[in-house]
Amino acid sequence: MTVVFGSDHAGYDLRHALAAGFRAAGHDVSEVGATSDAPYDYPDAADLVCAQVLAGGTDLGVLVCGTGIGVSIRANRYSGIRAANCCTTEMAVLARQHNHANVLCLGARLLNLEQAEEIARVFLQTEEDTSERHSRRVRKLDGNFPAS
Ligand code: RB5
Repeated sequence: MTVVFGSDHAGYDLRHALAAGFRAAGHDVSEVGATSDAPYDYPDAADLVCAQVLAGGTDLGVLVCGTGIGVSIRANRYSGIRAANCCTTEMAVLARQHNHANVLCLGARLLNLEQAEEIARVFLQTEEDTSERHSRRVRKLDGNFPAS
């Protein structure tokens, strides 16, 4: 699987460790965003990951910041990106199955490496549930807002 990992400074150590582990497991891994723990703005990391996912050729993205919140807010501004901030494996499974999430967001201040690895592993291996009800709901995510 081809996966792009991105982070700000707060997520740098966790992202780099995650990327190394998934690369060692045989995935085609690239890294974008912070290159150290020097300050790096999380929206910029989200932009780089989303651009790579939307360009095609990359199956999924993983974004890490302190909480996973900032990167998920930015990533979800892109049409075609469905970013899910997950702190349990159950959330990761359902984000893939029900929401067809294509970007996983993780909080480095909330999760240790073992927890984050397990959440990411489950996210990468879970397929979208393309049954009619889930596909219909996902289509509505990118639909127009109701007139007020
Ligand atoms: C950086 O200090 C922090 O604000 C950022 O990593 C993230 O948690 C924002 O949502």
